[in-house]
Amino acid sequence: MIQTSHHVPVILVKNVEYTYPNKTIALRGINLKIAKGEFIAIMGKNGAGKSTLIRTFNGLIRPSKGNVFVKGENAQKHTIAELSSVIGLIFQNPLHQLFSNTIEEEIRFSLKNLNLDKNEIERRINGTLEIFNLEKYRNRSPLNLSGGETKKLAAASIMCRNPEILVFDEPTLGQDAKEIEFFINLIRNELSKEKTIIVITHNVEFAIEYIPRVILMADGNIIADGPTNEVLTKEMLINESSLVLPQIYQFNMALNLIGIPSPKNVYSKKQMFDFLKEYMKKNQAISRRVFNNGIRLSKCF
Ligand SMILES: Nc1ncnc2c1ncn2[C@@H]1O[C@H](COP(=O)(O)OP(=O)(O)OP(=O)(O)O)[C@@H](O)[C@H]1O
Ligand SMILES: [Mg+2]
Repeated sequence: MIQTSHHVPVILVKNVEYTYPNKTIALRGINLKIAKGEFIAIMGKNGAGKSTLIRTFNGLIRPSKGNVFVKGENAQKHTIAELSSVIGLIFQNPLHQLFSNTIEEEIRFSLKNLNLDKNEIERRINGTLEIFNLEKYRNRSPLNLSGGETKKLAAASIMCRNPEILVFDEPTLGQDAKEIEFFINLIRNELSKEKTIIVITHNVEFAIEYIPRVILMADGNIIADGPTNEVLTKEMLINESSLVLPQIYQFNMALNLIGIPSPKNVYSKKQMFDFLKEYMKKNQAISRRVFNNGIRLSKCF
């Protein structure tokens, strides 16, 4: 279904409202435009409406008012199955989307109804298990995986279908550093294939380092939408969203206090250390001051 054009946003949300049957108002007039190839974070405190919003993208939730357009077509006119072939949603709680007896069957089931020939199905199963390091668990029940592996399987069972828009709900939650790194590499690879990636996350450090645009939600509204390094450094917005200022920003403020001007375009610890190394080489006297204030600075990390 649905043709691509570079001029049409891949997702356009117009005045979308949604009230759950129990009368909880979850979305209060959302407007949003997402272009092909974008990498976007959706952030905001618990209950802000993030998960509800992304469920309107593939028809799992139909807006009470307003419309969602996917690649220029009104989602209202398409089934969940049609929309899901374009938009893959990877849920917050993976067990909600896994129900086969083995990991291999889970992937095989996902590939059903895509009209793929037998060889292609086997190729995709093997390729997917390999990418996600799940080969050794091929015949294991999804119920007997660790939390991290379950999240991987949930992503694998959607990504094997190769949808051009991927939406992850809380992918870094409860993940260790290695798993987060795996996920970042996975996303990099998808972005290089011109996929559009949307990530719901509470992880400020992850967002500021890797995700260029952020949409902040509060109480069913979008309260900010812009470059991550601008939005996540505004104290008022951060407080309203129950988030904390990124460490790198706090560190910058501490540097200012001891007379070192904020470096431009520095969003990761690695970039900050490189900047400081260079700066100290050039400014011996300031190095001493940094050293003397080291304890104060180290508290920021
Ligand atoms: N199935 C449901 N029935 C009734 N109300 C719901 C349902 N799911 C969510 N809600 C309510 O809708 C509002 C938005 O919930 P939603 O799950 O979209 O928030 P969220 O931003 O994803 O929160 P979290 O960060 O905790 O996942 C909340 O008030 C929530 O309690
Ligand atoms: Mg949620």
